[in-house]
Amino acid sequence: MSASQTQIASPIRTVNDLYSRMGKELDAAREARTYKIEVPLDGKQGGVVTVAGRPVVMLAANNYLGLSNHPRVLEAAKKALDKWGYGLASVRFICGAQSIHRQLEEKIASFVGTEDAILHSSCFAANEAFFTATLSSDLGLKDYRDAIYSDQLNHASIIDGVRLARITVKTTDARTYEHNNVTQLKQWLEEDEAKGYRIKLIATDGVFSMEGDVAPLPELIALAKKHNAVLYVDDSHSTGVLGKTGRGTAEHFDVHGQVDVFSGTLGKALGGAAGGYIAGKKELVDFLRQKSRPYTFSNTLPPPIVAAALQAITMLEEDSSLVTQLHHNTEYFRREIVNLGYTILAGTHPIVPVMLGEAAIVQDMSRELLQEGVYVRGLWYPVVPKGHARLRVQISAAHTREDLDRALSIFGKVGKRLGVIK
Ligand SMILES: Cc1ncc(COP(=O)(O)O)c(C=O)c1O
Repeated sequence: MSASQTQIASPIRTVNDLYSRMGKELDAAREARTYKIEVPLDGKQGGVVTVAGRPVVMLAANNYLGLSNHPRVLEAAKKALDKWGYGLASVRFICGAQSIHRQLEEKIASFVGTEDAILHSSCFAANEAFFTATLSSDLGLKDYRDAIYSDQLNHASIIDGVRLARITVKTTDARTYEHNNVTQLKQWLEEDEAKGYRIKLIATDGVFSMEGDVAPLPELIALAKKHNAVLYVDDSHSTGVLGKTGRGTAEHFDVHGQVDVFSGTLGKALGGAAGGYIAGKKELVDFLRQKSRPYTFSNTLPPPIVAAALQAITMLEEDSSLVTQLHHNTEYFRREIVNLGYTILAGTHPIVPVMLGEAAIVQDMSRELLQEGVYVRGLWYPVVPKGHARLRVQISAAHTREDLDRALSIFGKVGKRLGVIK
């Protein structure tokens, strides 16, 4: 019997049966407390937001510089709406793009230290596109294989991007190395020398969103150089955040210009709306304009977003006071939460994982914190390993000292009530 003739044991008989089974699965997720609940905000994103009519300190947004509601960013978006309109109503190769799209690509490239950049509708789309697009052509060669080495804790979009490449480009081998384990990666690259791979891609998040830790870029750069591999770094949580002037992981490690390719988002520090990019060598960016399917077959970014992101980067170029403020706020919160008796993952990033151990206590804490006036999200298995459940605090330059003190005082009160701290 061929595969197409295989008897299927359990067909879903009706479409209603499909929906009812989906409903049961959702009920099971609710029971297991893995169902994701969305809290409605009554107004704008900011250091303090309104939930059910009450002010709540926001510690769960990627609004690192507070730009999602900054007057200069809002003004730029409003002006662009009047000057450039709401949208382009097609994809770039059909209807073209505006000069501001190109300006933004050039500005991103200059900001992150590469020759050029290409916008995508999101960083998710950019990461999903990159691997398949890069490996999609034979480049005039025959009988080759390519290899991707990806950090175990990379963002879902890199994981999906690698999966897509593996499925659609049959010449792709892909392996996941242990988180930040440069020794393992080095060993694999050395072993793989004999295989004569055509292209080797090393993919890592610049900052890992669950841990707030930074990829060891200097070691990865050295390995990539030695083994003639392309280093791909997703700086979504780093651009506007790390380094004295917010230029990301490369500035943090003083290796500006040495990373082959960056991806990043406009949906976090750079205004918080939406949009993503890939930045690298001119030839690579041009190649992606031809080969990236999410770029080619999806509308380009709306003008207000483009203008607002241009404004956000201009602000960072002019003056790094927001980045400095973010660093001060982060240092203060990290120090004071430890003084309260909490355990955090060490580091310097505004992602501050407050380690609580079990999922149930994280769920109780986040619920009671919200009731008292702090909005923070919990992460537990399977998102993080069993026994490593945590609250993921995210600090912003938009937080005043008063906001942070209020949050810390509520952390103290709720933690004592639930027996998490003494
Ligand atoms: C590391 C990383 N990469 C990519 C993304 C996706 O970014 P975007 O919202 O632009 O799709 C995220 C968002 O959570 C992220 O944390």
